[in-house]
Amino acid sequence: MTGQELLTQLNWRYATKKFDPARTIPPEQWSVLERVLTLSPSSYGLQPYRCFVIQDADVRRRLREVSWNQPQITDASHLVVFTAMTSVTTELADRLVSRVAEVRGQSVDSLKGYRDMLAGFVEGAPAKGIQLDQWAGRQAYIALGVFLSAAAMMQIDACPMEGIDPAGYDQVLGLSAKGLRAYCVATAGYRAADDKYATLPKVRFKHEDVVTRV
Ligand SMILES: Cc1cc2nc3c(=O)[nH]c(=O)nc-3n(C[C@H](O)[C@H](O)[C@H](O)COP(=O)(O)O)c2cc1C
Repeated sequence: MTGQELLTQLNWRYATKKFDPARTIPPEQWSVLERVLTLSPSSYGLQPYRCFVIQDADVRRRLREVSWNQPQITDASHLVVFTAMTSVTTELADRLVSRVAEVRGQSVDSLKGYRDMLAGFVEGAPAKGIQLDQWAGRQAYIALGVFLSAAAMMQIDACPMEGIDPAGYDQVLGLSAKGLRAYCVATAGYRAADDKYATLPKVRFKHEDVVTRV
């Protein structure tokens, strides 16, 4: 993809307000977007977020009720709920170290220094004013951003949404029992032919107002 093609796609994307409910993302394309969810970077690589792909129509109807009745929740081809851990402990560091050992063929013992560094971050965070639940939520938003960019590059429409009631999502999906809280969702699919937002000029502050070269 050339630089110009990338900018064209990012200009093409918009927060889709009205999806075509008759169009579904083909499974082979969806499976790519699902893989993207796990390829997002995260602080220390700790991945304190979890994504739920909601396929059940009844669950989507109930989630729409706790999403300001926004139609994208039920009309889009796919719905992803981005959640993050409400409690981050050194157990997450241990799980990551085990996974690193498994993927890279190393022993857990040889990763002791790495494990201590990760655990040190988790244990020392409160004293540094880092609230780990909020830190975890921020990682979920990074995953949302990566997902949106990937969808745009694949010519798939999407809408990021935080107009949701986290308590309602908790009730429908049983999140707190899993130690999770919902932050935002992404709906993905194809724009309806009559979504008037699709043709509105994109509004951004001027480049120099947002980006400063020092
Ligand atoms: C974190 C986040 C939450 C958003 N929540 C909603 C939402 O609940 N409903 C909605 O229709 N759009 C929502 N949007 C879309 C924004 O309004 C939209 O991205 C912004 O106006 C810029 O327009 P564009 O994305 O079409 O370029 C959200 C966007 C972000 C990044």
